[in-house]
Amino acid sequence: MPLAVKVPREKGEEVRRKLIELGLFNRDYRIGREGDYLLIPVVEPVEGFETVEVELEPVRRRPHSYQEVVRVPKELRPSLPSSFDIVGDIAIIELPEELVPYGKEIGRAIMEVHRHIRAVFAKGGKVGGEFRVRPLIHLAGEKKTETIHRENGIRLKLDIAKVYFSPRLATERRRIFERTQPGEVVFDMFAGVGPFSILLAKKAKLVFACDINPWAVKYLDENKRLNKIPNVVPVLGDVRKVAGQIKADRVIMNLPGHARAFLKEAMLSVRDGGVIHYYGFSPEEDLFGKHEEAIRDVAEELGLEVEFLDRRRIRNYAPRQYNVAIDFRVYVRSPQVQ
Ligand SMILES: C[S@@+](CC[C@H](N)C(=O)[O-])C[C@H]1O[C@@H](n2cnc3c(N)ncnc32)[C@H](O)[C@@H]1O
Repeated sequence: MPLAVKVPREKGEEVRRKLIELGLFNRDYRIGREGDYLLIPVVEPVEGFETVEVELEPVRRRPHSYQEVVRVPKELRPSLPSSFDIVGDIAIIELPEELVPYGKEIGRAIMEVHRHIRAVFAKGGKVGGEFRVRPLIHLAGEKKTETIHRENGIRLKLDIAKVYFSPRLATERRRIFERTQPGEVVFDMFAGVGPFSILLAKKAKLVFACDINPWAVKYLDENKRLNKIPNVVPVLGDVRKVAGQIKADRVIMNLPGHARAFLKEAMLSVRDGGVIHYYGFSPEEDLFGKHEEAIRDVAEELGLEVEFLDRRRIRNYAPRQYNVAIDFRVYVRSPQVQ
């Protein structure tokens, strides 16, 4: 039974404040009443007060995290992931092997705490294939994979089972938006459902948005309408076929696993003095060196010059492995004067 100090009602507020200050107030129970007295819950007997054991109504506090309500064996609790991705009204969690048998319970707990979540999936493997799509395992809620995600003031309709999308890049996309100048022509080489393209088109004159995945281009088209953005030109197909036909002020290369293989296409698609945003994966011990070397080599091959503008770690995607960004400007080399 909980403990409470019994104080005359008129002293109640003063005593409550004092108990909070002393760290003795017990927030798990509501303050009770007994005639002209208040029963203020405390964590231990308090000197100078009459302390009683009494029935008090427990406070129904809304849990803040799924970990507070999930039912898994005690020894597995330290393995519970502290976070998960939310795409629209769908949660996607990465479960360590030992928690896989408790996947459905974890899904249920996520839905109990996050009331706007309609479906929960576990990552069923790595992002793979040409479309960079991830296998998913349904854990709880509706078996739906289509949703509308909001970020940076735009709405993105997408199907998490058919296209690539990561909500973790929202800050990076914002950063590129801030660097974009009004009137620019942008070439988004690996556009997906358009999180860069739709956002940048709010400032740019025109955005060419290419993707090889027909589902991505279908959603990109829908997202143009959803956000009332007319100046995005969706291009379905291999970017190698379009590169060089466009001369953009700004090129975005968001295919981090393979970006090096497309550097030539990117450099052929940027105007003299234009900027390329390159994304790659790197181990902690060499975040930028290998990528910058590849950038210099391709520029040399094409007779171009590069000026590195910025380099940054975007996120940690595996232990000691990072998703990095390198921004560089490309110049046509001035002819050598004899
Ligand atoms: C990592 S995702 C990035 C999507 C998007 N930029 C975003 O931030 O969500 C890479 C995208 O490149 C597309 N892709 C892969 N190879 C391609 C190619 N050769 N030509 C055009 N698109 C390609 C994939 O279908 C995928 O949608």
